[in-house]
Amino acid sequence: MNSTDESRHPFLKGLSKHRGAPPTVVVIFGASGDLTARKLVPAIFNLGVDNLLPGEFHLIGYSRSEIPDEEFRSAMDQAIEEHSRRPLNKEIWERVRQHTTYHAGGYGDPESFARLAEKINKIEADLGRDVQRLFYISTPPSVFEPIIRNLGACGLAEAHLNTKLASKVIIEKPFGKDLESARHLNKTINSVFEESQVYRIDHYLGKETVQDLLVQRFANAIFEPIWNREYVDCVQITVAESLGVGSRGGYYDTSGALRDMIQNHTMQLVALTAMEPPVSLDPESIRDEKVKVVKAIQPLELKAEGGDVVRARYANGLVNGQPVKGYMEESGIPEDSSTETYAALRLSINNWRWKGVPFYIRSGKRMARRASEIAIQFKRPPGILFSEGNKFDVASNTMVVSIQPDEGVTLVMNSKIPGLETRTQPVKMHFRYATTFGSNTPEAYERLILDAMVGDSTLFIRGDETEASWKLITPILEHWKACGSHGLEEYAAGSWGPLASERLLWEKGHQWRRSG
Ligand code: BG6
Repeated sequence: MNSTDESRHPFLKGLSKHRGAPPTVVVIFGASGDLTARKLVPAIFNLGVDNLLPGEFHLIGYSRSEIPDEEFRSAMDQAIEEHSRRPLNKEIWERVRQHTTYHAGGYGDPESFARLAEKINKIEADLGRDVQRLFYISTPPSVFEPIIRNLGACGLAEAHLNTKLASKVIIEKPFGKDLESARHLNKTINSVFEESQVYRIDHYLGKETVQDLLVQRFANAIFEPIWNREYVDCVQITVAESLGVGSRGGYYDTSGALRDMIQNHTMQLVALTAMEPPVSLDPESIRDEKVKVVKAIQPLELKAEGGDVVRARYANGLVNGQPVKGYMEESGIPEDSSTETYAALRLSINNWRWKGVPFYIRSGKRMARRASEIAIQFKRPPGILFSEGNKFDVASNTMVVSIQPDEGVTLVMNSKIPGLETRTQPVKMHFRYATTFGSNTPEAYERLILDAMVGDSTLFIRGDETEASWKLITPILEHWKACGSHGLEEYAAGSWGPLASERLLWEKGHQWRRSG
C-alpha cells in the first residue's frame, strides 16, 4: 500500500495502525488445549503471512503437562496444517517457530510464574529493548483467578505500566457463570490489572460481518432514519448450529445455551443492532453505547408456562439427512440433566428508539442448519393499494444481515410479477461478501489478537458490559433452576426448535423467519 492509496481510501489508512504492533511476547495459558491448536496458533501464523506480526515476536505456551519445546513446536506445525485457513508456509512460520517455547507450570503455583517472569525478562534483556507482554488466558474458568493473581504477584502485570508497552491480558469466555461470579472475577482482575489492560474476548466481535453491522448502520444514510420504532416492526436474531455437543458434553451440561451463546455472542449482536450512534469510533464511545442499550433491556417476564423465555433440548432426529442422537444420549450428560440446548427470549428495550419493538433472539444446537443472522423486519406498507384479495402477497420489507455461513446482506422487498395483471411478490436483493471481496477473509481470532497487540480494545467487552448482560440473564438461570425440568421443551434434532418458541412471536402477531 502506498500513501496515495491511503489518501484515496481512508479505510485503508485505518488499517495501517495494525502494522505498528510493538515487540511482543505472547504467553498462552492453556497451550495444550483445543482452542490453542484450532484457533490461536493458526491465527498467529496467518498474521505472520500478512506481515502483521512485530519484528520481535516470541510465543510461550504455558500449561501443566511437561512437553519438550520441540514437541510443542511440532504440535503447533500440525495445528496449522489442520486448522489454518491458508496452507502452512514453512519459511514464514519458521520466523515465529524459532522463537516459540513451552513452559510447564501449575496455574496456582507462584514458583512457576516466577520462572516465567525470568524467562520473559531474559528475552527482553537479550533483545536489548523493552517488550510488551500479552497474556492469553484460554484455560478452564476455575483457574482464571489463580493465573491473574500470580501474574500480579510476580510483577508481570505491571511491567511497563502507563506506557504503550503495558502488559495486556486477554480472557476467554466463560466470563463468570452468573452476575455474582462475573462481579467477583472483575474485582480480582481489576485488583491486578488496570481496566485498560484487560481484553475480555467474544470471538463474535472479531467476525467480519459483525463488524460490518456498524458500517452498514453508520456509513449509509438510508438505514439510520428508519432504524427505530416508527418503521421497525420487530427484530429477529438467530444463532443456529447444526452440530450437537459432541465431546464437550461434560462442560456443556454445566453451561447450557443461555450461558454458552446467549449471554455473550447473541447479546453482542443485540447491542450492535440496537445501540445509538457513538460520538466517535474510539473504543470507549462504542462501548458506552453498547452498555447503555443493554441496560435499557427490561427484566424478562418469567413464568412456569408462558412469559418471555423458552428453553428446550434436542431429541434424536435427522441432521443433513443423517440420524443423530438426542442430547440425553450424548456422552457425559447426567441422567437428571435439565440443561437447555436451545433458548429463545423476547426482549423489550425501554428507550426512545425501541420502545414497543420486540427483539426476538434464539440460539440452539442441532438445528436444521448452521445459520446466524439478524433480521430487521419493517412495518408493512398501508394496505391500500396492493393488498386486495388473496392474489396479492405484500410482504414486510426485511433487511437480513447474514453473519454466517453465507456472509452478506439481503433486502426483501415487493416487486411486480411481470404480466398483464398487477400482482406482487417478495423478491430479494443480495450482497454477498464472497462475491464482492473473495472468500478467504481473516478469522475472528486474527483480528482480535492483532487488536490486543496494538492496544485497540474496541472489539472487546468492558467489565460493566459483561455485568449488565449477566444482570439480565441471571434471573432466568435462577428461575430455570427452581423449575428443574418443568417447562423444558424438546425439539427434534434437525428442526428449527420447539413449537413453544413460536408462541413468543405469535403473541405479538409475528412469526420466526425461515432462514435462507
Ligand atoms: C462458542 C461456544 O463460544 O461458540 C460453542 O462455546 C459454539 O458451543 C461456538 O459452538 C460457536 O462459534 P461459531 O464461531 O462457530 O459460531
